[in-house]
Amino acid sequence: MHRIAIIPGDGTGPEVIAEGLKVLDAAARKFGFKYETTTFDFGGERYLRTGETLPDKAIEGLRNFKAIYLGAIGHPKVKPGVLEQGILLKLRFALDQYINLRPVKLLPGVETPLKGKGPDDIDFVVVRENTEGLYAGAGGALRRGTADEVAVQESINTRRGVERCIRYAFEYCRARGKKRKLTLCGKTNVLTFAFDLWERAFNEVAREYADIETDYAHVDAICMWMIKNPEWFDVIVTDNMFGDIITDLGAMIQGGMGIAAGANINPEGVSMFEPIGGSAPKYTGKGVINPLAAIYACRMMLDFLGESEAAAKVELSITETIGNLKSMNAGQMGYSTSEVGDMVAELVAE
Ligand code: IPM
Ligand code: MN
Repeated sequence: MHRIAIIPGDGTGPEVIAEGLKVLDAAARKFGFKYETTTFDFGGERYLRTGETLPDKAIEGLRNFKAIYLGAIGHPKVKPGVLEQGILLKLRFALDQYINLRPVKLLPGVETPLKGKGPDDIDFVVVRENTEGLYAGAGGALRRGTADEVAVQESINTRRGVERCIRYAFEYCRARGKKRKLTLCGKTNVLTFAFDLWERAFNEVAREYADIETDYAHVDAICMWMIKNPEWFDVIVTDNMFGDIITDLGAMIQGGMGIAAGANINPEGVSMFEPIGGSAPKYTGKGVINPLAAIYACRMMLDFLGESEAAAKVELSITETIGNLKSMNAGQMGYSTSEVGDMVAELVAE
């Protein structure tokens, strides 16, 4: 029995999660596994009503689940940062989800803005460190609001934190069994403390993985190569901030926010699966948002839960559904959000 916590969240989050749950249900029937869901109302509305983001006791409760399926966090009436830090980042940190796994995969039939590139060229995975770096919240301000103001925001890189992320990336690359190439994305020419640690840890761990080719690229160069030669990449490992930035670029080359999904993984604990796109207030409640990213997140969750056959079938069904859509963009799919969800669910059930 898989115990799954559902946090639909804000904006279009509930709409896309509803479609993901249709697909999960179809997959469970078809492949004969059992699951149980509990829904939590954390998000902007609850915050506006109660002033509460994510109480500590809620975190304790969430530890009883194997996975969390999250829609979106972010509300136009709440100051930016409050919900992101108070809910999304708090979950990642408190549950020690130290890996943010983001596949950049162009599925057949999806349009990419990269001229002359197809599904064979765009198929790599970014392993983003998810608990340290600039996201650790280390820093402070002095003389705020005066002409002499000082703001410091430090990047925290621990040997333990960096090494466990790098080790995960090597293991993942090996298990993926594709090009068997792991690229470290950093900035060793400027961030000479942080990426010195990263580079040494990378090279030391690499000695245990003779079957994996290793490579290094500065983050600015990676942005260039992701556009020009995405086929060079297999798995990329990087810190929290760089991982955040390059995966938005990755989402665009794989066809946009309508399809990009990610997994916040604690291999020994509770992991969380989410579409990468935000709460999309302007599309909320209209039934026009593309649910495929959330459904792809569900596919990643199935994999994590050990339901690999179901996961493969969901991916196949997503691909088949894409063939019917006019576009991956919200409002231009040629179908409503729930019609797209139905299509995938029906294909899974077949
Ligand atoms: C992401 C998002 C978050 C991040 C924000 C909403 C805090 O951009 O998941 O990539 O920066 O990690
Ligand atoms: Mn981001």
